[in-house]
Amino acid sequence: MALDILVLYGSYRSGRLGIRLADYLIRGFEALGHGASLVDAKAIDLPMLDLRYSDYPAGEAPATMAALADRLAAADAFVFVAGEYNRGMQPGLKNLVDHYLKEFDRRPAAIASYSAGRFAGVNSHADWTVTLSAMGMAVVPERLSVGQIGQTLDEEAMPQGASGAALERGFAGFADSLIWWAEAAKARR
Ligand SMILES: Cc1cc2nc3c(=O)[nH]c(=O)nc-3n(C[C@H](O)[C@H](O)[C@H](O)COP(=O)(O)O)c2cc1C
Repeated sequence: MALDILVLYGSYRSGRLGIRLADYLIRGFEALGHGASLVDAKAIDLPMLDLRYSDYPAGEAPATMAALADRLAAADAFVFVAGEYNRGMQPGLKNLVDHYLKEFDRRPAAIASYSAGRFAGVNSHADWTVTLSAMGMAVVPERLSVGQIGQTLDEEAMPQGASGAALERGFAGFADSLIWWAEAAKARR
């Protein structure tokens, strides 16, 4: 049963590096026979939160906001590519997420963090776990944590060296867990 997996990423920086991890994950899930696609907060560029999607009368939300609502509601699972700014969340992705609520409900979510340095963005895990749980997602226990993202994945998002090999090993268990939970939740829905 092919799943529809959305990979959400939210850095607005020029020269951003986390897009490599997002691309790597999409390719990885596709190689396992699932549908996977990117939700790029920078490309969608919702405004700083004023009205949530649910605050608009039916049919009056901006078209990009409505289109993303439909994509979220149709998805079987979410992967949050979590960079770390000042030991917390990246605001671009948090802003996108806050526009929605029920569109995320009752689906599993997985957190894949990264950073430019050795600590792999793990300080963002706790914040995202609280937020995603509060919004109705089941956060899977397996995590990916990718340090030195600029060396671990090249510009084509191909794994490099020992850290790239470690990422490949980690991805196998990470994907296995998310797929298990996504299939279970899909059957129940
Ligand atoms: C505002 C800002 C704050 C940062 N804070 C942290 C941090 O707390 N921990 C860390 O490991 N790296 C930190 N970094 C470095 C990021 O890991 C690195 O810039 C990474 O490439 C950011 O992701 P992006 O390229 O996808 O935007 C910070 C970078 C910026 C721009």
